[in-house]
Amino acid sequence: MSDTAYDTAADAARLREQLAGVASEPGVAKPDPIVVADNMVRRFGGLTAVEVEHLEVQRGSITALIGPNGAGKTTFFNCLTGFGDPDEGEWSFDGTSLSKAPAHKFPQAGMVRTFQLTKALSKLTVIENMKLAAPDQRGENFFRALVPGVWRRQEREVEERADALLKRFKMDHMRNEFAGTLSGGQRKLLEMARALMCNPKIIMLDEPMAGVNPALTQSLLEHIKEMRADGATVLFIEHDMDVVSSISDWVVVMAEGSIISESRPEEVGQNQAVVDAYLGAHHDAPLTLEEEEAELEEVEAKLEAIEEAREEELGL
Ligand SMILES: Nc1ncnc2c1ncn2[C@@H]1O[C@H](COP(=O)(O)OP(=O)(O)OP(=O)(O)O)[C@@H](O)[C@H]1O
Ligand SMILES: [Mg+2]
Repeated sequence: MSDTAYDTAADAARLREQLAGVASEPGVAKPDPIVVADNMVRRFGGLTAVEVEHLEVQRGSITALIGPNGAGKTTFFNCLTGFGDPDEGEWSFDGTSLSKAPAHKFPQAGMVRTFQLTKALSKLTVIENMKLAAPDQRGENFFRALVPGVWRRQEREVEERADALLKRFKMDHMRNEFAGTLSGGQRKLLEMARALMCNPKIIMLDEPMAGVNPALTQSLLEHIKEMRADGATVLFIEHDMDVVSSISDWVVVMAEGSIISESRPEEVGQNQAVVDAYLGAHHDAPLTLEEEEAELEEVEAKLEAIEEAREEELGL
């Protein structure tokens, strides 16, 4: 897999052509949308964190979601991926409504995501982390699947896929290391590789480059382009405009919960509303340690609940 030559320039040209007739305006219709969201609202007490009237994400594109800190990007992502409990709204993925679907159904439907704060399980090894991400496998509880039999072959296939992905992400030499010993950048790579275990139709990445050392940034960018080359749609949140311009086919800008602009990457800076939103925002207001921990705890609890729901469904 790692030796596959991807013609990513041709992909970019293909997407450019597909999106050529699309006007640069918030909520604009796309020729072949894979995600369609309508009237999504998420409130926290008196604060309306997300209020998105309409968004379509073009199938097969790399679409960037940008906006100042606190714009509602992560909350919107959470809503779309079953982690957000929106107060209002309808959204569909690949023609199927996900509005009422529980979060553990999303990867099965072909939608996977990564988190702003990386969620590798530190007490498991790299390969164990990968195997846990395989969809629909009773063997996902591989430590319980000690009984020889039908699960063996499935197990082997999962492991082969995991090893192939680790090779593609140049992490095969870390296969048996505990995820807790990896650097921040390596964890981001592991999280991305893990997400691909499901062979997703769409992969949603929340700040995949944040905290990654520059030496790894380039390879992360290449992996994102490879995902598009493999036919997946990529929706990613990012702050770095150089990164956004270099890989995205389309850029969606959020501010104060709403989508204020959509356009080709080169047009983003020409939009006065976008410039104003950034000028009026607090750029460097990172989460405090307490806020980070609270967010992490919340996500962990949710993941645990999802894992339990899946186990229950599988009768384990
Ligand atoms: N669990 C929560 N409880 C209360 N308020 C929240 C919660 N999660 C987010 N918010 C608030 O909702 C708003 C949107 O936050 P969100 O994290 O979605 O922004 P963001 O665009 O992802 O920002 P960043 O670029 O800093 O990651 C912010 O005002 C934030 O404080
Ligand atoms: Mg965020």
